[in-house]
Amino acid sequence: MPHDFMPGLAGVPAARSTVSDVDGQRGVLEYRGIAVEDLCAKSSFLETSYLLLFERLPSRTEIAQFAADLTHHRRIKFRIVDLIKCLPEHGHPMDALQAAVAALGMFYPGRNVRDPHNNYWSAVRLLAKLPTIVAAHARLRHGDEHVPPRDDLPFADNFLYMLSDQVPTPVLSRTLDLCLILHAEHTMNASTFTGLVTASTLADPYTVVASAIGALKGPLHGGANEEVVQMLREIGSPKQVRPYVEAKLQAKEKIVGFGHRVYKVKDPRATILQGLCKDVFRELGPSPLYEIALEVERVMADLMGGKPVHPNVDFYSGIIYDKMGINVECFTPIFAMARVAGWLAHWFEQLKENKLYRPDQIYEGEHNRPYVPLEHR
Ligand code: ACO
Repeated sequence: MPHDFMPGLAGVPAARSTVSDVDGQRGVLEYRGIAVEDLCAKSSFLETSYLLLFERLPSRTEIAQFAADLTHHRRIKFRIVDLIKCLPEHGHPMDALQAAVAALGMFYPGRNVRDPHNNYWSAVRLLAKLPTIVAAHARLRHGDEHVPPRDDLPFADNFLYMLSDQVPTPVLSRTLDLCLILHAEHTMNASTFTGLVTASTLADPYTVVASAIGALKGPLHGGANEEVVQMLREIGSPKQVRPYVEAKLQAKEKIVGFGHRVYKVKDPRATILQGLCKDVFRELGPSPLYEIALEVERVMADLMGGKPVHPNVDFYSGIIYDKMGINVECFTPIFAMARVAGWLAHWFEQLKENKLYRPDQIYEGEHNRPYVPLEHR
């Protein structure tokens, strides 16, 4: 059956889903039908993960059990710590995360994906252990000791504690928790699709998540948050913004943290993150990068000439993490630690009616070419 070729599969539905929805014209993002603004105002990352995975908000007993299960599975085996220690100091944390998650699959029984009980525990382990891996790598690569998780700390507090060996203030832990909610899910994007392609072969969930991590790493996807902070540092001051942006656009280069395949207005997550920046600055003092970012947004609005290119989720998140003292290379791993909730929700959904992804291609090569022996070429 011939089809039109859609580069980047733009606009081609790859699944039926009830996990989340984006209205790119109005700038609305919902998880299981609930506006992300509502979740940020009233929920937590843990509860949002439950909502994504199990299609509804949990009761008190259910969320208590889910939190206890996750807390119980935060620790990572000493062999995973040893594996992380052996990785090159300058290796990218996303590569370390991908390697460690793939390795987890060798320790836990994930293969039988037809068993919902097994799948529940795989999801719990992945959600619980990713932050521990990210924090362990961030410390071990610089020669610091691994700080094991603390069972008495909530999810975001515990991550920041494992990263810095200090219990964070309530403002900082709530800020991180909200960042995790905002990064938890975003419909059929490149990393989710990658995970689902792997899942469609009935591979185990550790392999599914490891492949999604690989797709998230690229600068056109999750890797952009890192590049935004590098760009803002390179620009240096609000005065330098206009000449910088003009030169980039003239050279037909993109401004990182702007543009989106779906949003034709400002990404609602960018607006919420901007609000969070203010909370963090009240606690830790102002950020010069934020002033530069505001000017980039103004200049882009001026120069894009009506083209729908607005700040996306990655534009303001890095500024928050930077102010919190988190190393720039940790930004995308933090994204992954949140997005694993969405990846797993789509995985659960796909397993109900799995079909192997096997797309078509439009062959444009030759046929019936003769093989020319080496001595005649
Ligand atoms: N800076 C300048 N111009 C841009 C930008 C940008 N960041 N993004 C899009 N445009 C322009 C393009 O030049 C193009 O113009 P043209 O029609 O005159 O050629 C038009 O807008 C459409 O852009 P495409 O790249 O074709 O749009 P696409 O949907 O393929 O790309 C993408 C979306 C990849 C996100 C793109 O906007 C981009 O590269 N942005 C920068 C990287 C980035 O921030 N990525 C994070 C995305 S959010 C996430 O993944 C979590």
